[in-house]
Amino acid sequence: MKTILITGASRGLGRALVKELNERNYQVIASARNSHDLNDLQAFQKISLDISNDDSVLKAVETIKEVDLIINNAAVTISGPIEAIDINAAKEVFNVNFFGALRIFQAFTPIMRAKGQGLMVNISSGTAQQSPPLQGIYAASKAAFDRLCEAYRIEVQPFGISVMQIHSTGIATQMRKEQTIFTNEYYAEITERVKQMEQHMAGVPPEILAKVIANNIERRPLATFVRAQDLMAEIKAIYT
Ligand SMILES: NC(=O)c1ccc[n+]([C@@H]2O[C@H](COP(=O)([O-])OP(=O)(O)OC[C@H]3O[C@@H](n4cnc5c(N)ncnc54)[C@H](OP(=O)(O)O)[C@@H]3O)[C@@H](O)[C@H]2O)c1
Repeated sequence: MKTILITGASRGLGRALVKELNERNYQVIASARNSHDLNDLQAFQKISLDISNDDSVLKAVETIKEVDLIINNAAVTISGPIEAIDINAAKEVFNVNFFGALRIFQAFTPIMRAKGQGLMVNISSGTAQQSPPLQGIYAASKAAFDRLCEAYRIEVQPFGISVMQIHSTGIATQMRKEQTIFTNEYYAEITERVKQMEQHMAGVPPEILAKVIANNIERRPLATFVRAQDLMAEIKAIYT
């Protein structure tokens, strides 16, 4: 039975992935910044893991010891025009979305190398390829994450470790609804327009996306890149 670690499982896609993969009989290690947020979830193991914190990641790797597959799902976002973004908030986005993944790669590569196999699944976003207005910081963090994954894939391939990048479409979660918005008088109009637009974007239910991601992991574990349009095509073909 394969052991899977999922980051950011307190809600949204991460939570849905825990449920889906648990039902498919994997040994799921669900992780969240605060493990109490996982109390109502069924999983093989539940741990606290804050990927923005060096000590938290080191503690997790000591607790886990063995893992076949990791889903790097945890991420944060903020919204706002480049001119108005608070620089410390932007650094925090990178600390989670980029450095968080780097911490996970560095901490867990030795475990997978020792086993001679492993799969890192990385939840990225279509915005990594083209940023809409007000999403520049998030998009840049995901683009940096993508480049990190690309180099990492080639470096660890000789150890039997595979690296899959998934460009997700919009998901019906709290991420965008609860994001901190920065703006000023010069950007009031575009801020309002984007807000209205986002309110009307339904997004894919996380439970459906979790099924499609699980299908991809099982059907083609050696895939390097799953495009957003392919996810959508699969969702339309099977689940609507
Ligand atoms: N939502 C979209 O439209 C969309 C579109 C494309 C791609 N994605 C990507 O899909 C993935 C899941 O997004 P989602 O929509 O499910 O987001 P979400 O509902 O906001 O959930 C994000 C999860 O990440 C966790 N997290 C945040 N900071 C963390 C940290 N420092 N350490 C560990 N966990 C942390 C959150 O935990 P807490 O409860 O502790 O905050 C939460 O469980 C992300 O990688 C996101 O970038 C989302």
